Amino acid sequence: MYRITLLCVSLVVCANNYQNIPDYALRLEQQVVKYGYPIEVHQIITEDGYILAAYRIPHGLNKEVPENKNKSVVLIAHGLGGSPHNFLVLGKKRAVPYYFADQGMDVWLFSGRGSDIPFKKSHVKLDWNKDSAFWLHSFHELGIYDLAATIDFILKCTGQKKVTLIGHSAGGAEFFALLSEKPEYNQKVKLAITWGSSAILRRVDYPFLVLGTHLGDFLRTVVKFLRMAQVMVPGAVKSTLIEIFLRKPPLWYKVVKYILNIIGSHNSVMMRDEYIPTILSNIPRVSTRELLHFMDNVHNGTFRKYDYGPKGNLKHYGQADPPHYNLSAVTAPIAFFDAEKDGFLSIEDIYECIQKLPNAVHIYKVPFRKFTHTDYIFGYNATELVYEPTYQMIKRIDSGIIPPRVEVPPGYH
Ligand SMILES: *[C@@H]1O[C@H](CO)[C@@H](O)[C@H](O)[C@H]1NC(C)=O
Ligand SMILES: *[C@@H]1O[C@H](CO)[C@@H](O)[C@H](O)[C@H]1NC(C)=O
Ligand SMILES: *[C@@H]1O[C@H](CO)[C@@H](O)[C@H](O)[C@H]1NC(C)=O
Ligand SMILES: *[C@@H]1O[C@H](CO)[C@@H](O)[C@H](O)[C@H]1NC(C)=O
Repeated sequence: MYRITLLCVSLVVCANNYQNIPDYALRLEQQVVKYGYPIEVHQIITEDGYILAAYRIPHGLNKEVPENKNKSVVLIAHGLGGSPHNFLVLGKKRAVPYYFADQGMDVWLFSGRGSDIPFKKSHVKLDWNKDSAFWLHSFHELGIYDLAATIDFILKCTGQKKVTLIGHSAGGAEFFALLSEKPEYNQKVKLAITWGSSAILRRVDYPFLVLGTHLGDFLRTVVKFLRMAQVMVPGAVKSTLIEIFLRKPPLWYKVVKYILNIIGSHNSVMMRDEYIPTILSNIPRVSTRELLHFMDNVHNGTFRKYDYGPKGNLKHYGQADPPHYNLSAVTAPIAFFDAEKDGFLSIEDIYECIQKLPNAVHIYKVPFRKFTHTDYIFGYNATELVYEPTYQMIKRIDSGIIPPRVEVPPGYH
């Protein structure tokens, strides 16, 4: 299959020789073609020199029909410590990119700096292994540079005027940073949907993060002392983990599931054992600045810029405290997904956030009491519980129905 028609098509993967290879051994584009879907891999260079990939699944399985020039374009952004690979774990028809493509959407997967390196270089000058400067970023830069460049690229490539954004976890924080810092991007967004995310995260119930928030200054000092710009699991450790895992399943399944449950904040009742090797094969690196930025926001109960400490703040912002992001500038319609067992996000945080937003249009409660933060990506039933209602929401807006602003229920302050 070759379709090198558009200028923006960088690489179209063909051939189908991956049938017998397990997903964890395959690159993202190989996984996609294994299931019979088309994929394009695009290269994007941001204004600050990062080289990113954007993955496009332009149509679903049964679409040999003439190209529809008016497709709904969806860009899906991963969270902190996540990568575009996360969204493929549920496999054929069930994983969100496949589900949306089968519904007739033009699906793009966002790949922020440092999350996934499919090209030889990941920055025009910096080396992600050697230069700690590569890692000096948080959801702020992922939003204002990476997301901005990816949106512009998609609009140019598809000829559409607007894109729908979906962000899991920190992916949502990236929208809020972009749409408040560069308000002109609100015009380019049809709807922004957050899964398990809000700009305000005051009430996080997440033991590790809460511990970290209390250690803020201490952690900052340790990180500075160790010159630790990133947290990573070396490739060799990853492959050893998978190997051990495949040889001694019962115990290891338990250990890994336990770790994933900590990350997901509660036990998942819908993550299947067969997903684990694929999940393990893609543990990306994490920028320590992004961790510190989140912890500061949780601790302070606000959505504000990175805290460099009093002196650094004066230098960067001309004031001793980090400035707040201006959420009144976020005029694009915003929808929230909230789940009962998502320790990361509470409904009160959503209420506090929508009071600051001029155009919050939806709060969708996932109709299953045990749904967790990681179930959005690794929960078998996410297809019906989350992807389908997300699709319906997008379809309604596509058909021109503009939902009214949601209000905070009476009694809440
Ligand atoms: C948030 O930070 C500001 C200034 O940095 C401080 O005045 C305020 O007390 C902090 N709020 C909380 C809840 O810690
Ligand atoms: C925040 O954004 C709103 C809406 O664009 C604008 O009216 C207001 O002046 C902004 N506030 C600041 C402090 O920039
Ligand atoms: C998840 O899907 C399985 C298989 O279809 C079904 O048996 C189970 O009841 C579903 N669980 C939820 C919470 O929807
Ligand atoms: C394309 O979609 C827009 C809404 O997104 C709609 O108003 C328009 O009628 C559609 N055009 C065609 C040719 O389907």
